Amino acid sequence: MREHWGSRWGFILAVAGSAIGLGNIWKFPFICGMNGGGAFVILYILCVLFVGFPLLLAELTLGRAAQRSAVGAFAKMTKAKTIFADGLGVLLVALGVILLVFKYWGHGTFCLTAGISLLLFGWKTVGFISGMVIPVIITGYYAVIGGWTLIYMCKSFLGQLNFNDQTGAEAVMGPIASASNGMMGWVIASSILFLLLCGGVVFSGVQKGIERWSKVLMPMLFVLLIVLICRGLSLPGAMKGVKWFLSPDFSKLNADSVIAAMGHSFFSLSLAMGIVLTYGSYLSKKENIVQSAVSILVLDTTAALMAGLAIFPAVFAMGFKETSGPVLIYEILPAAFNQLPAGWLWNGLFFMMISVAALTSGMSLLEPPVRIFTDEFKMKRSPAICLTLFMILVITVACSISMANWNNFPRLHAFLLKVWNNDLSGSMFGMLDSFACNWLLPLCGFMLAIYVGWTWGARKALKELREGTSPAIDGNLWLRLAGIKDEGGSGGRKVSLFSFSVIWGFFIRLVTPILVFIAFLDVIGVIKFTA
Ligand code: PHE
Repeated sequence: MREHWGSRWGFILAVAGSAIGLGNIWKFPFICGMNGGGAFVILYILCVLFVGFPLLLAELTLGRAAQRSAVGAFAKMTKAKTIFADGLGVLLVALGVILLVFKYWGHGTFCLTAGISLLLFGWKTVGFISGMVIPVIITGYYAVIGGWTLIYMCKSFLGQLNFNDQTGAEAVMGPIASASNGMMGWVIASSILFLLLCGGVVFSGVQKGIERWSKVLMPMLFVLLIVLICRGLSLPGAMKGVKWFLSPDFSKLNADSVIAAMGHSFFSLSLAMGIVLTYGSYLSKKENIVQSAVSILVLDTTAALMAGLAIFPAVFAMGFKETSGPVLIYEILPAAFNQLPAGWLWNGLFFMMISVAALTSGMSLLEPPVRIFTDEFKMKRSPAICLTLFMILVITVACSISMANWNNFPRLHAFLLKVWNNDLSGSMFGMLDSFACNWLLPLCGFMLAIYVGWTWGARKALKELREGTSPAIDGNLWLRLAGIKDEGGSGGRKVSLFSFSVIWGFFIRLVTPILVFIAFLDVIGVIKFTA
């Protein structure tokens, strides 16, 4: 018997735990401030509604219908090999050969492998990339950052994080990021510890591990956020930060903001990584998927807004400038907090908050590969977890000693540059991140929408979605908004043209895949909207 979630909130908090992560904390507030504050928030919410929400529903529905891992799901609802999969396979093989002829070794091999796999295994390929390849790559570098956070949390509580400016901060961060000056052992150990913590939770199972810990850690995350927001907002000059972060400036919005909002809604909701699909496979038919999905969206967006309010008021009040990513989290913010009385405490709480966010995301990344091993290869859970951890560990260790530069792997670097025609820059972290998030994620998201909307079919998907959901999703939305009840619907259930279900079907078949594909073409540089 497949294990199921013990309670509705357990499930919602587990998905929210996956969704709320570093993206909400170090990325969203910054893109928001740079793209016209409140104006961007509105745009982001639209993207969440048009792209994130339909896909979230699609993944949950597919998962619940199939009750299988990401790979199995694509083979259970329909035949894995379809004309579309074959056609795409042939196309990719041809493209791969052409690219190889023109000596694009990396791109060519990628297309060729994907094409051959589509021809051999059909749609299972999509499940495999999304549920195995992406999680293993992302956890590989996510664990390193998780490890840094653990180091910083300990340092703060031990009173060893006492720099007041960026120069001082760099002196601490530099050796950690480049794993030099005696820090290498610590960096490797801490990222392994992070992985083991995630593995430990997943080891205890769905209800006793993931669900139980999410129910403890997620409320804790929100409490920590609230404490930090109160501290930040009570500082003199805090409003400068709030203003930068939230005051709407529509003139700053452009096509790039739209792409950024779309890409972020995708990443932030942990879509197309097999996570939501796998978590959905532990749902019972009684679950109201639409309602849960709405709660997840609201929690994720609220957490992102709260993170901005916890960070920028303090940063601006202490006279620092805005930035994003590791520099913001590991340098600027701790320096700002350190100028306050009991700075160690604020830093400690802040890094505890990030550790919690990273842990719940990290453990969600382990579940899809583990499930593929147990469902498709009939492995027992414990060996499946060990195998998953081992694969990730290889990447994590390599990554942890080459986050800042390639000094430790000059040959590998030269090889990669040659293979990818120098069309590749950055550290190992940057490369893995861009490969997984800019290439694989949108492609899998696109394929997922096509699969649910066309191959499995919106009609069958809707049939599944309706289970556990109120008949209202078939009723006339406009009538409802106007406060008039739609008399048709339940019983014989006529579907109104302006119902939630029809709109969802339209989005998942046409709007969402097209938007995702356009965003993908922009991110990889095939089309450019703004100079
Ligand atoms: N969704 C998480 C965030 O917003 C990131 C994440 C990525 C989580 C990959 C799990 C897997 O940060």
